[in-house]
Amino acid sequence: MTDSNVPMPKCEDLKLLQGQKALVTGGSSGIGKACAIALAAAGADVAVNYAHHEEAGQEVVETIKAAGGNAFAIGADVSQEEQVLSMFKQTIDAFGTIDILVNNAGMQRDAKFEEMTLQQWNQVISVNLTGQFLCAREAVKEFKRRGVVEEVSCAAGKIICMSSVHQVIPWAGHVNYATSKGGINMMMKSIAQEVAPDRIRVNSICPGAIRTPINRKAWETPEAYDSLMNLIPYKRIGEPDDIGRVAAWLASDQADYINGASIFVDGGMSLYPGFSTGDG
Ligand code: BGC
Repeated sequence: MTDSNVPMPKCEDLKLLQGQKALVTGGSSGIGKACAIALAAAGADVAVNYAHHEEAGQEVVETIKAAGGNAFAIGADVSQEEQVLSMFKQTIDAFGTIDILVNNAGMQRDAKFEEMTLQQWNQVISVNLTGQFLCAREAVKEFKRRGVVEEVSCAAGKIICMSSVHQVIPWAGHVNYATSKGGINMMMKSIAQEVAPDRIRVNSICPGAIRTPINRKAWETPEAYDSLMNLIPYKRIGEPDDIGRVAAWLASDQADYINGASIFVDGGMSLYPGFSTGDG
């Protein structure tokens, strides 16, 4: 029996990431912002990466600091190798090391397939897939250099790749985006297999529809929201913190035996809701 006078600890009170250093790419908005805030609430020091909007990055830093956490903002376009190298150098100089990478930066450039330009294709693949490759590679170098520090974590490092339900659900009109997410799935698993003996954990979170600027059209009018609900058995849109909480837990030692996994956080979107009546 639980004594009702003793409140259960809230996730953030557990400080599961105390003493750890994190880098969150695309941490200035949407899911990345929620991850940065959640990791900081769990005790991590956080480098909040932004691509172009420094003010937005600074705002996230201020939010974290106001809650008693430690963070700084750092600019880099993750698709540019020199910028990624410099971001890692600056973060390691500031924090001493990195224990957690949230490989989150991503974008959509939607178009009907036959109208999709090479530029739209390349931009999405470069940021969503190549960007995650570059950041994961630099993180692995640092994790291997440092190895396990037992007082900090049982693992030498953790990488969380932000994928999507669209790593399994094909998406007409978004071929570049769905391809990038399918690629992330195989990249994540292959890296996980290669670096597991070094005690490095690599996993993905696959969000469904989360209320962020990237999909504003899908939720901002009541009509759009209603139609979105046809795709979500749990009948609510996800909030950014639904992902932030999972990221903080997945990065923590509570999840130490999870490696190479895709965690779907989607209210059941990937359950083929079109088949929910059981009619053939
Ligand atoms: C996309 C969103 C979309 C969601 C579900 C995400 O990966 O970025 O635009 O709402 O998948 O379809």
